[in-house]
Amino acid sequence: MKESEIDSNRFGFKVAKTDGIKLRNSTYHEIKESGFKLIIARVDLNDIDLINKMEDIGFKIKDIQTTYKHNLDNINFTSSFSNQPSLIIREFNLSDTDALVNLAKSSFNNYGHYFKNEKLNKRKCLEIYEDWAYNTCTNSDFSDKILVACDNDVVIGYLSFKIHNKFSIKKYAAGGMGAVDSKYRGMNIFSEILKAGLVWSSNQNLNWCEHNVLINNISVNKSMINAGFKPNKPVVTMHLNIE
Ligand SMILES: CC(C)(COP(=O)(O)OP(=O)(O)OC[C@H]1O[C@@H](n2cnc3c(N)ncnc32)[C@H](O)[C@@H]1OP(=O)(O)O)[C@@H](O)C(=O)NCCC(=O)NCCS
Repeated sequence: MKESEIDSNRFGFKVAKTDGIKLRNSTYHEIKESGFKLIIARVDLNDIDLINKMEDIGFKIKDIQTTYKHNLDNINFTSSFSNQPSLIIREFNLSDTDALVNLAKSSFNNYGHYFKNEKLNKRKCLEIYEDWAYNTCTNSDFSDKILVACDNDVVIGYLSFKIHNKFSIKKYAAGGMGAVDSKYRGMNIFSEILKAGLVWSSNQNLNWCEHNVLINNISVNKSMINAGFKPNKPVVTMHLNIE
């Protein structure tokens, strides 16, 4: 288990993150000794034995995610925006920061595993997304590329990417955060941003592009399939609150 300083600072008590593997033979009382008040575990969904052991300890499921992967073969798209000339996808400019932070705030309220933990302050849960969006826009540790969709120069969607293993032969781009303005959903905007991200990844000579999504977020799963991504690596996020 490793302390998540960013989460500890935000919530005001010690938070740890783990893949759960070393907790297989632990008890609640042993974990309590560690001094952490919240343990967030992201566990391989294929390891049902481990998940059941964690349930016995008191961990509760908070979300299930899968990674969608695209191997970057056959990157040859025609944009479905061609009959809607006001819509474009372009590179992010620093002056888009406020628009992206606001879009994250309105899109991720009540979204994801933190919000599903009734012990966590909801305002602080939303701040996670707000800060994450701000860091994505301003800090290269968070993203190497952001693509934004605009309608007549107004930002209506975005998706960020981070390159991993930059100096290895297995380098790839992983999605960071992305959303589309609620007024523009269901118009294939996100699928188009995903495809533009594939073109960018291919031009960077990456080996693949991947994105993590919640399996019950049907629209984002459909967007991935529309853009030719294939699912793999399902994981479950579990929380243990320690009194
Ligand atoms: C997920 C999200 C980015 C999708 O953006 P979008 O531009 O509306 O996606 P698309 O228009 O490409 O829609 C993809 C598909 O989902 C469908 N869809 C859209 N909303 C839907 C809903 N509420 N229920 C079921 N299907 C839905 C679309 O009709 C389309 O289906 P099709 O392929 O059969 O035509 C957007 O809903 C959003 O910003 N949600 C909140 C933030 C979020 O979830 N971000 C992603 C986190 S990983």
